[in-house]
Amino acid sequence: MISTQTNLEKIMQERKSVRKYKENVEIPKEKLRYLIEQATSAPSSSNMQPWRFLIITDQKEKEALLPIAFNQEQIATSSAVIAVLGDLNMFEKAEEIYNANAALGFMPQQVADNMAANSRKLYGNMPKEKLKEVIQFDAGLITMQIMLLARDMGYDTVPMGGFDRQKFAEHMGLSDNEYAVLLLPIGEAAQEAYGTSRLAVDDILRFK
Ligand SMILES: Cc1cc2nc3c(=O)[nH]c(=O)nc-3n(C[C@H](O)[C@H](O)[C@H](O)COP(=O)(O)O)c2cc1C
Repeated sequence: MISTQTNLEKIMQERKSVRKYKENVEIPKEKLRYLIEQATSAPSSSNMQPWRFLIITDQKEKEALLPIAFNQEQIATSSAVIAVLGDLNMFEKAEEIYNANAALGFMPQQVADNMAANSRKLYGNMPKEKLKEVIQFDAGLITMQIMLLARDMGYDTVPMGGFDRQKFAEHMGLSDNEYAVLLLPIGEAAQEAYGTSRLAVDDILRFK
């Protein structure tokens, strides 16, 4: 039995989807900014970092989202709703990303140039549906980091795929290249999340 429980394990176990929030709790924008900034240490495909964020803190704006999110109350009662977006044109930042790697001394400029060119070619020619898959996967990785860090900062969250993406995009005036992956309400829990079971490890794991 491995019995050492690290702080990370504790946070992982504490994270639960909270759907009841204390109303009128404000999270300072600086804290939300810090949360996103720290979470960007997440890995992403070719380090293209396709995630973009739109954080809705205004009460009226949150309430306007209720029908778009099938009236799930956490949209309106949480302190903020973090919309995790994916940029289908993320490869346009390939040079910026790899030039920064070179400038920081992580790779020679020649290598950075090659990698940027390869990334541009790979993602630029990828069918939209496949690109969406890449983006959603990367967005999931950073969302997990946000949820864990939020818990560490004393906040709770609930990842939400239950919303009308088309209506959300129209309502928020997203550009054509931005895809809404997930909504993530964040706030202070008013009521503990209900427990959720997990499949036994032996049912989901095999070695070869
Ligand atoms: C991609 C995704 C979409 C989800 N969508 C919703 C949602 O729309 N509404 C909701 O209340 N919970 C939603 N959940 C939360 C799950 O129901 C929850 O994570 C699961 O039951 C396990 O519970 P736990 O998060 O408390 O451990 C979603 C979770 C994920 C990962």
